[in-house]
Amino acid sequence: MNEPTPLKPLGPLLDADADFLKAIIGMTIPMVVLEFGHLYGDSARAMLSAMHHHARLISIDKDRHPNIPAEETRFTFHQISQETYIPTEPIDFVFLDASHDNKLNQQTFENVIPFLTEKGIIAIHDTGKWPSNVYQFNAGMETSDGRYSHNPDEIRFTNWLQDEYPDWQQIHFHSDHEVRHGITLLQKKTRLFL
Ligand SMILES: C[S@@+](CC[C@H](N)C(=O)[O-])C[C@H]1O[C@@H](n2cnc3c(N)ncnc32)[C@H](O)[C@@H]1O
Repeated sequence: MNEPTPLKPLGPLLDADADFLKAIIGMTIPMVVLEFGHLYGDSARAMLSAMHHHARLISIDKDRHPNIPAEETRFTFHQISQETYIPTEPIDFVFLDASHDNKLNQQTFENVIPFLTEKGIIAIHDTGKWPSNVYQFNAGMETSDGRYSHNPDEIRFTNWLQDEYPDWQQIHFHSDHEVRHGITLLQKKTRLFL
């Protein structure tokens, strides 16, 4: 078996996250992608690299300025807080990686779902736990299983969704063996038909 991908220095987006986003995009070919949390543009660049040449990426960040070359015409940026963004068109894929605040995520989810296409997917970043506080990160907490939740509100948000939106299925991409930030995918249950 291959060795797991070595851990990069503290980074908001691990290589495994970038590969995963690219795989989802490669499989589903979303024409409109919505990102909450741009920072230095790592997730935006990863997603754009896999996106269709006619697809578009809308990126939201309250503090940062866009870090994507102006020639990239598929990219639009809004400098606003995540819960104030109301889409204006159907959205196929959402990457949520902004405030890490349960209440803001709840409002953001409720703003977005009326615009999500039937098999649209929402990927919530940072729902996993690290084996310990490997990055000496102050914002998180030790958990009852001896692990470290770097963004506990992402876990609270995911559990709130299970309580309030049971018709939305979840699958957690987490590792107990290596440091991974963790991604939870959401999709509204839909019957496939012939
Ligand atoms: C973890 S970083 C995003 C990392 C990015 N997705 C990447 O892979 O490079 C979180 C970002 O969310 C932004 N942010 C924090 N609170 C926010 C809010 N309420 N609304 C929008 N953006 C917010 C921060 O400015 C920061 O750039």
